[in-house]
Amino acid sequence: MARSDWWKKAVIYQIYPKSFKDSNGDGYGDLQGVVSKLDYLKDLGVDALWLSPIYLSPQVDNGYDISDYRKVDPIFGNNQDLETLISEAHKRSIKIIMDMVANDTSDQSIWFKESRKSKDNYFSDFYIWRDPKPDGSEPNNMGSNFGGSAWTFEPMRDQYYLHYYSKEQPDLNWENTKVRQAVYDMMRYWKAHGVDGWRMDIITSISKDQSFPDNPNPHGIKFVVANQNNGPRLHEFIQEMNQEVLTPFDMMSVGESPDAKSEDARNFVDPVRKELDMIFTFEHMHVDRVPGSVNGRWAIQPIDVVQLKRILANWQNTLRDHGWNALYFENHDRARTPSRWGNDKKYRYESATAFATVLHGLQGTPFIYQGEEIGMTNPKFQLSDYEDIELKTNYKKLVEQEKTINSEDFLRAANKISRDNARTPMQWNGSKNAGFSETKPWFKLNPNYTEINVQRDLDSEKSVFNYFKSLIDLRHNNLLLTEGKFKLLLPNHPQIFAYLRYSQEKTWLIIANLSDHQVDNNLSNEYSYGKILLHNYRNKITFNKLNPYEAAIIEITVK
Ligand code: GLC
Repeated sequence: MARSDWWKKAVIYQIYPKSFKDSNGDGYGDLQGVVSKLDYLKDLGVDALWLSPIYLSPQVDNGYDISDYRKVDPIFGNNQDLETLISEAHKRSIKIIMDMVANDTSDQSIWFKESRKSKDNYFSDFYIWRDPKPDGSEPNNMGSNFGGSAWTFEPMRDQYYLHYYSKEQPDLNWENTKVRQAVYDMMRYWKAHGVDGWRMDIITSISKDQSFPDNPNPHGIKFVVANQNNGPRLHEFIQEMNQEVLTPFDMMSVGESPDAKSEDARNFVDPVRKELDMIFTFEHMHVDRVPGSVNGRWAIQPIDVVQLKRILANWQNTLRDHGWNALYFENHDRARTPSRWGNDKKYRYESATAFATVLHGLQGTPFIYQGEEIGMTNPKFQLSDYEDIELKTNYKKLVEQEKTINSEDFLRAANKISRDNARTPMQWNGSKNAGFSETKPWFKLNPNYTEINVQRDLDSEKSVFNYFKSLIDLRHNNLLLTEGKFKLLLPNHPQIFAYLRYSQEKTWLIIANLSDHQVDNNLSNEYSYGKILLHNYRNKITFNKLNPYEAAIIEITVK
């Protein structure tokens, strides 16, 4: 059966439901809140919504710990509300992509509650159980992403279970056919309710080396986080899922793939392999991280624009005719781009739109994260304001126990890159609680909501929102952005990101100065400039001298 490829011309918008819009005044965003904003999203022009998890969950990891895959969590509404959302979205030709978290479940899932009880019930092998070492310690030195060991002891079985994330998120045992079939059944269930596709949470972690060797330990620490991806049966499992569900039910898929390099990506997304449509890489998101530090993502450094270009260009070239890119800078696990890589004070509009220009000009499917389309910024909280389990557990591990980073540097990093930066409530207007809720929201608002909000952007001609609208419009109306070839220019220029998209008929230049000062280039020696399709400054563009964060998309001819 042929797969449809609507997603190649689409722009997808991610909703983090808890922080999007509260309709019933309990301080949590919910599904009816999303329904109430569908016209806004239609106006923006997006083709599909990816909903972060809305399933029943104890919310240890904000819904990425699911206790019932088929039930909507009461904080978000009920299953009927989800059906309403799906049908109201479909009426507006907006598709719905759900988050599929199938590497692990919540420890409150009935599957795990049964599994932990004994070694011989139906669910016993649904999770990964191993005996202690003779001295009673963990089966190996694997660390959890949220600190401590990746193994937790269960006295009822006298065994340890594996969890790559919190101990409340036990990893499923994909070696067990019953587990795989249960996941495929759940996918078919949601297809029957109108869901159009899946964002697959850490899908590259589902297969594990069953011998569970120790991780290499160059820094001599107790528990080491490494080797959580690309296990021996990964491609076999994904191919099976494709045959069982994705192809027969024509569902779109984008898999989260933390370690993938562009060459690995082909193995997931080359259509001949019949696996996934796209993957989210992390490679380009590490360009402001000190390589190889024990402090991982908390070891920050200024953005390296040359690296960013090299990585994105490499993905463009490697996947050309062998797959499709998922393009993103922001999501619920990433900070706000103007604060992280741009300038969120003097050049907030310019830096938000400059980064958007270089991303949306690429080949692939652009993903916009809620609030990105109005240039929301990081809130600069104190440590006690943060909620995220990742931040709290890493603080404990790195600052308090291992003492590899001090509290001030950790806070500085948190202000720049922590996941909570993206999770503050959506800023709809300048009134109380930013129009997000009638009551105090579950998570602190960014106090700048009186200046940065949707209403304000809708009311002004020059706004990040209108710029995003134009970018989406350009993509919808110009096959060149979908199909045109790609060529990186000025690869070693430390501030300018410039590239061509071209076909036999025409060539566009996508160019941005990713710095807060004026910079020169000599592209006008080679190109004659024609129609300006998009530009984030009002004045006439001076091609060889770009203003801070100046960006444009221009039709050109080669001299
Ligand atoms: C993915 C999610 C992240 C979550 C983790 C564990 O990386 O995007 O938010 O914490 O999986 O489920």
